Amino acid sequence: MPEQASIHIDDKKVLDCPVVVGTEGDKAIDIAKLRGTTGYITLDPGFGNTGSCKSAITFLDGDKGILRYRGIPIEQLAEKSTFIETSSLLIYGKLPTQKELDNFSSAFNEHSMIHEDMKNFFDAFPSTAHPMAILSAMICSMSAYYPDMIKENPSKEDIDRIAVQLLSKVRTICAFSYKKSIGEPFVYPRHDLMYVPNFLNMMFSSSNRPYKLVDEAVEALKVLLILHADHEQNCSTSTVRLVGSSHANLYASISAGICALWGPLHGGANQAVIEMLEEIKANGGDVSQYVQKAKDKQSGFRLMGFGHRVYKNFDPRAKIIKQKADELLRKMGINDPLLDIAKRLEDAALKDEYFVARKLYPNVDFYSGIILRAIGIPLKMFPVMFAIGRMPGWIAHWKEMIEDPTTKIGRPFQVYVGSPARDYVAIDKRT
Ligand code: ACO
Repeated sequence: MPEQASIHIDDKKVLDCPVVVGTEGDKAIDIAKLRGTTGYITLDPGFGNTGSCKSAITFLDGDKGILRYRGIPIEQLAEKSTFIETSSLLIYGKLPTQKELDNFSSAFNEHSMIHEDMKNFFDAFPSTAHPMAILSAMICSMSAYYPDMIKENPSKEDIDRIAVQLLSKVRTICAFSYKKSIGEPFVYPRHDLMYVPNFLNMMFSSSNRPYKLVDEAVEALKVLLILHADHEQNCSTSTVRLVGSSHANLYASISAGICALWGPLHGGANQAVIEMLEEIKANGGDVSQYVQKAKDKQSGFRLMGFGHRVYKNFDPRAKIIKQKADELLRKMGINDPLLDIAKRLEDAALKDEYFVARKLYPNVDFYSGIILRAIGIPLKMFPVMFAIGRMPGWIAHWKEMIEDPTTKIGRPFQVYVGSPARDYVAIDKRT
C-alpha cells in the first residue's frame, strides 16, 4: 500500500500527498496542501470523490452492503437494541452500561415537554403546512426558547443536555404538528411509556379515543428508527456539519439538516415512493411502463426509492425493511396492494439491463413507506419519521466535529466561469 501519492502537472511533480488509511482499509489522498503549494484546487461536483472529514461514527462499504454504527452491524442493532440505546451508542461511542442507559432514558422524560409558549407557534402555520417546514422552524426556534443552552464553547455537559433535549423534544414536536394538521388537541408525552410507544400515543390517542398500542407496530417502527439513525456523510449530515463548522448552535445546524433531508432525492424519497406506487396502482398496476419511463432520460422520471450514491450491490437497510414490511403486514392482517406493486417493480427493475448496468437497487426508502402506512402514519409525515430517526446521527456528527480541535470552517472553492472583468454602464447607455 502506498504511503504517499504524488500530483504531477504537465509531467512535473508538484506535490507529494500523504495517504490516509482508515480502520477498515479505506484510502484517501490528503490534498490539504494542494492550493497553497500549486494554486490548483480539485473539482468534484456532488463530492463523489471527496472526504470532508475523518469520522469514527459509522462505517459503510457500499460494494459489500455493510453498515455499522461504532463498529456494530446494523443487523444486530435492529434485532437486539432499542432506539435510545442506539442513540447513546452513536453519540457517546460505546454501548451504555445499565446505569448510563437508565440515566439517559430518564433524561428523555425530563426533556419531553416543549416550552408552553412554543405551542402558539403551531397556530401560526396553515393547516396545510408540510410537517417538515414546521419541524425545521420549530427546531431552529428552540434556540430562542432555550437561549441558556447556546454557548460559543459548549462544555461536555452542555452538549449532553442539548442532545437529549433534542432527541426527546423532536418526537413531541412531530406529534404536535400532526395533531395541528388534523385539528385535534395536543396529547402530552407520558413518563410511563418508552420512546416509540410514547410517540405513537401522542400521535394517535385523544381524550375520547385511547390508542391501543400494537406490539408489532412498535417493533417495526423501532427497527425503522434504528436503521435511519446514521449514514455517515450523507447530504443532511454534511449540511449539519457544514453549518455547525461556523460554530452555529446545534439547533440551527440540525434545522438546516432537516431542510436538506426534506428533498425527494434524500429523506423525502419515502413519501415520493408511495406517491409513485399510488400512481402506478391508479394507472392499472403495469410496472413495466414505469420501468421504461425511468429509463427514458427525456421523461425526467426516476424510480423513487431506487439507486444510491454509495450502495452498488444492495442497501443492507432495505433488506431488513423489506422483511419487516412483509412480517408486519402479515401479523396485522393487512393486505396492502402497494406492497405487491413494490415487489413487482423491484423484480422488473432488477432484471432490466439499464438498472443492472448502473447498479441501481432499492434503497432504504423503497419499503419503509409500506411500514409507515401500516402503522397509520400519514404520507406527509414520512420524511418527518426519517428526521426523528436521523436525529442521533446528526447530533453525533455535530459533537464529533465541534470536539475536534482540528475542525475548520467548511468553505469549498469554485471554478469561476462567469464574465471576465467589465465596467459598470449607466442605465441610459445600456443597449
Ligand atoms: N431511476 C432511474 N435512473 C436512475 C435512478 C433512478 N432512481 N437513480 C440513478 N439513475 C441513473 C442516472 O440517470 C444515471 O444514469 P446515466 O449514467 O445514464 O446518466 C445513473 O443512474 C447514475 O445516477 P446519478 O444520479 O449520477 O447517481 P447519484 O449517486 O448522483 O444519485 C440518487 C443517487 C440521488 C439516490 C439517485 O439514485 C436517485 O435520484 N434516486 C431516486 C431518489 C431516491 O430514492 N433517493 C433516496 C436515496 S437514499 C437516502 O437518501 C436516504
